[in-house]
Order: sequence, then C-alpha cells, then structure tokens
Amino acid sequence: MPPAERVDHAPKVRFEEVSKCFGQGADAVRALEPITLDITEGEFTCLLGPSGCGKSTLLNILAGFEQPTSGQVLMDGLSVRGPDPRRGVVFQQGALFTWMNVHDNVAFGPLATGKPAAQADRLAAHYLEMVGLAAFAKRYPYELSGGMQQRVGIARALANDPEILLMDEPFAALDAQTRELLQEEIKRIWQRTHKTVLWITHSIDEALFLATEVVVMSARPGRIKASLRPQFSQSADPAVVTSAEFARMKAEIFGLLREEALTAQRQEGAQ
Ligand SMILES: Nc1ncnc2c1ncn2[C@@H]1O[C@H](COP(=O)(O)OP(=O)(O)OP(=O)(O)O)[C@@H](O)[C@H]1O
Ligand SMILES: [Mg+2]
Repeated sequence: MPPAERVDHAPKVRFEEVSKCFGQGADAVRALEPITLDITEGEFTCLLGPSGCGKSTLLNILAGFEQPTSGQVLMDGLSVRGPDPRRGVVFQQGALFTWMNVHDNVAFGPLATGKPAAQADRLAAHYLEMVGLAAFAKRYPYELSGGMQQRVGIARALANDPEILLMDEPFAALDAQTRELLQEEIKRIWQRTHKTVLWITHSIDEALFLATEVVVMSARPGRIKASLRPQFSQSADPAVVTSAEFARMKAEIFGLLREEALTAQRQEGAQ
C-alpha cells in the first residue's frame, strides 16, 4: 500500500494491545487487559463501563499522564510519550485557576504556547462566546455555578485548538437539567467543529445522545465488550431521546452494562 493511502486510512488514535497493571506482587491491580481500539478523526467516542473498569486509566494513558504496562498508544501513527497540547483534557470538576478571571483562564493556554496577547484575547473571547459565557469574562471561578465552571473548562480546552478532546465524566457533578442543556451545547459545538472526542460517562442517555460510537467496557480488568454506532449525534432535536430506536439501544446497552456492574460488585465484595 503506498504511504499516502495508509495515512488517509490511519485512525487518529490507536490503542494497540494496551494493558495496565498498578503496583507489584500481591498488591498488583490489573486495571486493563490488552485493549485494541481505533478512534477515527472527527468521531465522538463515548466510553461506558462499570466503576473501576479502567476507563480513566485508558484516557490517562492517551493523555500521556500514565504509561501502559504493555502495548502502546499511537496518535497520527506516533507513540504517545507524555502530555501534549494537541490533546486537550477536561476534568470532572474545576481544575480552573482560582486566582485568574474567566477570560485569563481561557487565554492562558494560547499565551503559554507563545501566541501574542491580542490573539490570545481574541481566542478567549471567541470560545467564551461559543459556550455562552461572554458576559462572565471578568468574573472569577468562585463566582460561577458548577455548570458555568465546566463550560469555562471546555472553552479553555478548545482555545488550545487540540486535535482531540479528552473528557473524563465532565458533567458528572452537575444537576440533571444543567447537564441536559450542556449536552445540547456540546453537541452543537461538536457539530460545528467536528473535533475528535473521547468522552467517559456513566450515563447511557448521554452516550447515546452525543456519540457516533459507544464503546462498552467489561468489569476490571477492562476489555472492550461491545461497540455500537448510534445515529443521534447528527440530530439537533433534543427530543431524539424519546424515539423508539433510542429506547431500543438504551435497553441493549443497559443489559450489557448490568452484567458487568454485577461482576464488578462481586469483585469488590471479594476483596
Ligand atoms: N494510580 C493508581 N494506583 C493504583 N491503582 C489504581 C490507580 N489508578 C487506578 N487504579 C485502579 O485501577 C482500576 C481502574 O481504575 P479507573 O480509575 O481507570 O476506573 P474507572 O473505570 O475510571 O472507574 P470510575 O467509573 O469509578 O471512574 C481500579 O481498580 C483502580 O483502583
Ligand atoms: Mg474514572
């Protein structure tokens, strides 16, 4: 195959037989079995799986925060060796600089990567507008609600123009209504930018509403149990969640996850 063709078809990210074991000897925890998973450019991939199955570990290995015990992660064909601004991470909560106002939080990344101040200001204004927080640019994180802080976190990640966004349960701490509104907002942003996204959630509804690919993991040590391709990410209508097809897929994933959650519970009981 000529190299150009190979590049065209190469996935954005490839987890190649990636396993992870924490600790050694009797205390060792096998978090991930060797996992092979491709993420195609422009896809919105949601990872679902029982607590402790290794979702965060997988994301942290791609982020470059953790090293795999065996195997490797490739991005654009190159092995991931550490954190890189091409991979933007949004954490479950906070992680904003409390001593900086909202604008400065978002402008921080572009400034840190050497962009001139005027350009960093423009980028911050643009992404704060995108997440609906233009009016709050001069406020400090403590003056914002949890949902608004998460939106700043998303604007901050987007301002670095990452090639992939890594989101570890970004909406887990939010109330149900705020969460639904933010899901609609993130969907609009994704439809506009077509960023590659890896998103961890415990919510089947959230995964089905947002993802182009839903990957279900097994109980620890994590393996890929199933992969599904819902069609709801293209829809702008929040009411897709009431469709018969949505209900059918939800039931299917519920069944897959319940089996694994019970296994995880038994494992915890045995420890
Ligand atoms: N730094 C660490 N040291 C030791 N063990 C760890 C470490 N990080 C994770 N683990 C273990 O690895 C397993 C997978 O953890 P991980 O955080 O990836 O799970 P998860 O799927 O993200 O769970 P949750 O849904 O609860 O966030 C767990 O058993 C956890 O205790
Ligand atoms: Mg986790």
